[in-house]
Amino acid sequence: MPPMAPPEALSIVDHLEKCVLRDEQGAKYPVIDVRPSDLYKQSHLKNSLSLPWDEDPYNRLFELPPKNTTPIYVVGANTAMLDEPVRLLTSRGWQIVHTIIWAADTPSESLRPFIENGHHIEGGCRYTMVCQPLRFLSSHIEAIEAALCERAGGEAVKTWRALDIGCGSGRDMAFLALRGIAASLARGWDVTGIDSVPGCVSRCLQFAARLGISDRMRAVRGRFIDTDPSGNDGAPALPGEVYMHLRTDHGTHPFTTKSKYDLVLLVRFLNRESFDLIDHHIAPGGFLLISTFVEGPGLPEYSRPPPGSCNRLQLGELRRFWHDRKGYSVVADIVELLDDNRPINSFLAQKPCI
Ligand SMILES: C[S@@+](CC[C@H](N)C(=O)[O-])C[C@H]1O[C@@H](n2cnc3c(N)ncnc32)[C@H](O)[C@@H]1O
Repeated sequence: MPPMAPPEALSIVDHLEKCVLRDEQGAKYPVIDVRPSDLYKQSHLKNSLSLPWDEDPYNRLFELPPKNTTPIYVVGANTAMLDEPVRLLTSRGWQIVHTIIWAADTPSESLRPFIENGHHIEGGCRYTMVCQPLRFLSSHIEAIEAALCERAGGEAVKTWRALDIGCGSGRDMAFLALRGIAASLARGWDVTGIDSVPGCVSRCLQFAARLGISDRMRAVRGRFIDTDPSGNDGAPALPGEVYMHLRTDHGTHPFTTKSKYDLVLLVRFLNRESFDLIDHHIAPGGFLLISTFVEGPGLPEYSRPPPGSCNRLQLGELRRFWHDRKGYSVVADIVELLDDNRPINSFLAQKPCI
């Protein structure tokens, strides 16, 4: 692929004067600030995400907005500092509309009008979330919360519990855990994620710490397995690892016994052998949300053959299991194509209340 032409660079003042982070239609662009964190702390554009390029940014790319659909601005202290981020981000599919040079020695005089009128610039290190959760989740969350309130009758429930299985880096968990705070809801979500990869678990934990929500967003290393390898029902076989036993309904770890969740998520993760276990962990009137790859007649075929195919849903499979067999009410069951034409089945269902 030929190297991409660098996006137009603007000085911070020109930038603020000309476009104020908006295009002609008024759309706002997320701003990614790759300067070292001490420069960011001194002053930065309001609502920009600090992603210091000198601090292992590769582990934090999941915090960026979706590729292709959301063009971004990138802020660096000088053009040399912008080279690598611009090259890497564009090669991975992000579209950069502008880069902004914001040097440490930017004359404060020129910035003063902006600082004085309180527009666009702030100091400190308050975290700004610019990544987005699964759209199917964000578009249904209010309906889920309304149904959970209804389930509670007049009872004052302050916290709902969610479990994200195969949680990856925790974007959907963060979205849920932040809801109570962001929307000033009287209620909020306490979220637990499970992932078999230690790097995912540590990314989740660091993400929660950056967001200041470690008290309500936690992640554990866990793996679905068919049998109990420890020979000691429920005890982790490896230090720090939780096994979720598919063929036993008892054990010492909370995931294998008592915990009930108001919402269980499986996003781009499928382990159909665990469906009975998952059902066990959904509270009466609670919800199951699955969104993952699907195949079937009439859908575009995957260019790549199995082994992945056992992790793909078959059309109608979720309705047959969760509605026909388990009696869940189906709230939504849609098939959509991703940008790369792969079909995704997103499914939301509510467990009977009794
Ligand atoms: C494609 S990623 C999806 C991550 C996240 N849900 C998202 O949408 O961004 C699938 C995740 O499932 C995890 N995973 C794979 N097999 C697993 C298992 N048996 N038990 C728990 N997690 C598993 C992987 O480590 C990975 O983070």
